Amino acid sequence: MRIGITGASGLVGTALVKALRSQGHEILAFVRPGSAPPEGCESIPWDPSAGKLDPENLSGLDGVVNLAGHNVAAGRWNAHVRSLIWNSRIESTRLLVQAMRSCAAPPRVLVSASAIGYYGDTGDLPVTEESPAADTFLARLCVAWEQEALAARDAGARVVIPRIGFVLSAAGGGLARMLPVFRLGLGGPVGFRTFWMSWISRDDLVALLCWMLTNPDAEGAYNAVAPEPVTNQDFARALGRVLRRPALFPVPEVALKAVFGDMAREVLLSSARVLPARLESVSFPYRYPRIEPALARAVEDR
Ligand SMILES: NC(=O)c1ccc[n+]([C@@H]2O[C@H](COP(=O)([O-])OP(=O)(O)OC[C@H]3O[C@@H](n4cnc5c(N)ncnc54)[C@H](OP(=O)(O)O)[C@@H]3O)[C@@H](O)[C@H]2O)c1
Repeated sequence: MRIGITGASGLVGTALVKALRSQGHEILAFVRPGSAPPEGCESIPWDPSAGKLDPENLSGLDGVVNLAGHNVAAGRWNAHVRSLIWNSRIESTRLLVQAMRSCAAPPRVLVSASAIGYYGDTGDLPVTEESPAADTFLARLCVAWEQEALAARDAGARVVIPRIGFVLSAAGGGLARMLPVFRLGLGGPVGFRTFWMSWISRDDLVALLCWMLTNPDAEGAYNAVAPEPVTNQDFARALGRVLRRPALFPVPEVALKAVFGDMAREVLLSSARVLPARLESVSFPYRYPRIEPALARAVEDR
């Protein structure tokens, strides 16, 4: 297949490019001004912030994976960061889909990222794809992001939406930020209360994105998480065991809220007990369905 990827330089995109290339697919990375495509990839120039993308560059692609977006957990949200988080997903997905709709031979499949932030803080309540969206900033973002992607159906595309959980890899994201502290034996649960974390190993997420691209029956939203969410405390204990370090020091909720404000409330301290009901119904072959083996792999994942 000839596959276009937005956000190809990110944590997920880097691993996806490698996996698809090793399977013999041809990869075209969407490249923003001033950047270069990953090794071995052709490039499709675009400038989502300026609304620039030549639709004909998408003609003849078999599929597109849309992963682009300003990092949600990079720091405190102010008005500028919120608009960057929003626009880098909504406007770029709109631009991509408009190009799909106006090119001569549109891609047949669009796999477009969303997040479990769709469900907001679920407390102890398990949620599935059938559950409603919440009314937080991230939930409203996910709803709008998914709607932009679903418009690609008008171009005749099959649209698949992974609602991605906490991606486990030492190569980046939240786990990479936690590791130095845990390696010093100073790690522990984030916050005092026992909340749920819905996670997925980067390997399983990459396999899932490949499955979504190539399986003609995959359509609509899927929770892209492992089948067993864990409490924050169990996560910290499992990571401590994997690293052979104590993991007893909780990071106080009040300190996180003071430093990160709404970002802490909606990302770091939000309970997410999300179940992958649709993937379980098709017996998706997870390689790392349990937290401890997943973490043992993730800490080696570069
Ligand atoms: N990692 C997680 O735990 C997680 C959880 C839930 C959802 N997700 C979603 O899954 C997608 C991929 O995640 P990731 O962890 O790979 O993210 P990431 O490492 O932050 O990479 C995202 C990529 O998006 C592009 N990008 C950054 N700022 C942008 C902007 N202002 N406008 C357009 N593109 C921009 C960049 O790629 P280029 O420089 O190549 O354009 C960047 O490498 C993201 O949309 C993320 O929200 C991730």
